[in-house]
Amino acid sequence: MTQIGIIGTGSMGGMLVRSFVGSGAARPDAILASNRTAAKLQALAVETGIGIGRDNREVAGHADVVFLCVRPSEVKDVLRELEDKLSPEKLLVSIAAGVLLEDLQAWTEARVVRVIPALTSEVLKGASLVAFGDRATPSDRETVLSLLNAIGRAVEVEEEDFEALTLLTSCGPAFIAALMEELAGAAVRQGGVRPDLADLLVKETLIGTAGLLEESDVGRLIARVATPGGITEKGVAVIRERGPGMFDEMMRAALGEEE
Ligand SMILES: NC(=O)c1ccc[n+]([C@@H]2O[C@H](COP(=O)([O-])OP(=O)(O)OC[C@H]3O[C@@H](n4cnc5c(N)ncnc54)[C@H](OP(=O)(O)O)[C@@H]3O)[C@@H](O)[C@H]2O)c1
Repeated sequence: MTQIGIIGTGSMGGMLVRSFVGSGAARPDAILASNRTAAKLQALAVETGIGIGRDNREVAGHADVVFLCVRPSEVKDVLRELEDKLSPEKLLVSIAAGVLLEDLQAWTEARVVRVIPALTSEVLKGASLVAFGDRATPSDRETVLSLLNAIGRAVEVEEEDFEALTLLTSCGPAFIAALMEELAGAAVRQGGVRPDLADLLVKETLIGTAGLLEESDVGRLIARVATPGGITEKGVAVIRERGPGMFDEMMRAALGEEE
């Protein structure tokens, strides 16, 4: 049984533990975790049944696959602390945004993979982005893809595309939720709908739309709802006219590009 280590049980590390255990991708007794603040890890261990490591070094020494889930600014220090523990026999999976494979491979002797998970994996949906380092083996690929496919869909991409693709995956739920706020807000302003009712209806519609998309694609779904000459078609036309400008601006802002 592959032994999994999780270093850093914050928002994303905690989500990975819950999803691996909840999906059955890993047994709780195959997961050992460590965290800077003990109380947070203690609560997660009580909730999920995973093991509590004495410290990062014990977790790295014990595990075959180590998920490093600390903030990007903390990655280098943690890898320095684990220098003798992360040998070439170990597989390191870093989820830190913006920390390149090239740097990770220079800071550790372990085989390295970069993954950008999304919060949607908490409900075993959504996409994780994956890029393998030069030292990763076909068996590493199988291990990582099988774990991630159990908690959503793993999509292997070029590392250089991570930043733009992250806007669609990790940031996506917040963008889509912000659009829902705007849709509900317009119904309140233009249609006099009660705000709580507008929020409820938009949320239920989004959940239903996601369900329909399991069996369809975006274009076909629009065509099914927007009958020619109907009210939906008029609304879709406005989105298609104004949407590109707004979304291009949003992408430029998120990617930090100057106007
Ligand atoms: N948030 C997202 O949607 C998202 C998406 C994709 C990727 N990521 C990446 O995921 C990583 C974690 O983000 P997050 O949102 O989960 O942050 P977070 O909630 O702050 O979690 C980081 C965790 O690391 C622990 N930690 C810090 N230094 C440590 C050390 N030296 N040893 C052991 N544990 C240590 C922290 O412990 P304490 O309990 O003491 O704070 C905290 O629990 C980041 O690198 C980020 O780029 C995040």
